[in-house]
Amino acid sequence: MAGRLARCGPSLLQVVHFPVARLHVSRTAMRATQQDFENAMHQVKLLKKDPGNEVKLKLYALYKQATEGPCNMPKPGAFDFINKAKWDAWNALGNQPKETARQNYVDLVFSLSPSPESPSQVKPEAGKSLPGSENLVVTSKDGITTITFNRPTKKNAITTSMYREIIDALNAASKDSSVITVFTGSGDYYSSGNDLTNFTNIPPNGVEELAKNSAILLREFVDSFIDFPKPLIAVVNGPALGIVVTILGLFDIVYASDKATFHTPFSHLGQSPEGCSSYTFPKIMGPAKAAEMLIFGKKLTAGEACAQGLVTEVFPDGTFQKEVWTRLNAYAKLPPNSMRISKQLIRKSEKEKLHAVNVEECAVLQERWTSEECALAIMNFVSRKSKL
Ligand code: COA
Repeated sequence: MAGRLARCGPSLLQVVHFPVARLHVSRTAMRATQQDFENAMHQVKLLKKDPGNEVKLKLYALYKQATEGPCNMPKPGAFDFINKAKWDAWNALGNQPKETARQNYVDLVFSLSPSPESPSQVKPEAGKSLPGSENLVVTSKDGITTITFNRPTKKNAITTSMYREIIDALNAASKDSSVITVFTGSGDYYSSGNDLTNFTNIPPNGVEELAKNSAILLREFVDSFIDFPKPLIAVVNGPALGIVVTILGLFDIVYASDKATFHTPFSHLGQSPEGCSSYTFPKIMGPAKAAEMLIFGKKLTAGEACAQGLVTEVFPDGTFQKEVWTRLNAYAKLPPNSMRISKQLIRKSEKEKLHAVNVEECAVLQERWTSEECALAIMNFVSRKSKL
């Protein structure tokens, strides 16, 4: 994605997460050469730290100015927030010569030195490291596949590519020799749910295409939980929001730290429930309690979530990891076939229903994502005017 930012003039405000790397921008010439410019475009992809929306807008504008000259696009409408912000940034450069814009682009990239690696980032545990990414660490050890949300600086918000990686990780774990699969988060959050900037990367055919693609991805993502054949366990180390809460109804065990909270603020975001929660939550906690969460966005403490049946057990944060992992290591030694068959027996009669619920939830969300209510909520978040 960062590549796209450099190449085409950044699709602004999109999720940009950069792999670890150092900047090596050549500054030998006073005036940036085409080679310097291309190097800078490449280096943008390697930045480790998201430079923030303001800088991304600047990069976008300079890129466009350097490659196309003064702003030549019709001014977008007032409600087309993202394209309007991009247009404003480009237009603000006026008649700045292409060469100057190129130099400024190179200088700006050069100034974005990467910050040191966050100490809270998870390192794969000793054991086999499986395909994943810096943002989603997948390891396998002693029969346990562990899938860790690892974007602590973004509260482990889930990007589009992380959805895909989770689908792939579940697919692999369903077929390999691992016995149980565990989800957890790195840092203070379990996960803040869907990365809301996923909605701001509008493709050429507009927001309808984005909504359609997102609904297809969400459906596949939730299907992979519905169909997962082995015991699935959530180790909820901190606050959890949105999709990572709603899919808990598809897990077999949910262990929570007493620091965890469970929050599904869909109405606040102009959206609607997913992850089969419109079916599983009323079933688990009764319709009245489910409505309070799913319609009114009531945030539950770990204790409340446990009392309502969403969480299996709550542990004091100080001993959470030790107690939980001692248990999980013991579970992973139980006969795998027996556990798989028992899970199938428990879930079998529901599978068809869950798939149908998933289809319907995704269709409703596809419509919600194109609504003005949703657009305004996302813009509020992106522009940091309000937080939940
Ligand atoms: N999507 C995109 N970015 C997110 C995010 C999300 N779901 N959750 C957190 N972030 C980012 C913030 O934008 C911020 O980025 P920045 O440092 O570049 O500004 C960073 O993570 C840290 O979050 P911040 O808001 O500064 O921390 P906080 O402790 O004040 O608040 C939250 C944490 C999770 C309460 C707040 O970020 C939030 O409300 N996020 C949205 C959660 C949400 O609505 N999820 C979807 C549910 S359906």
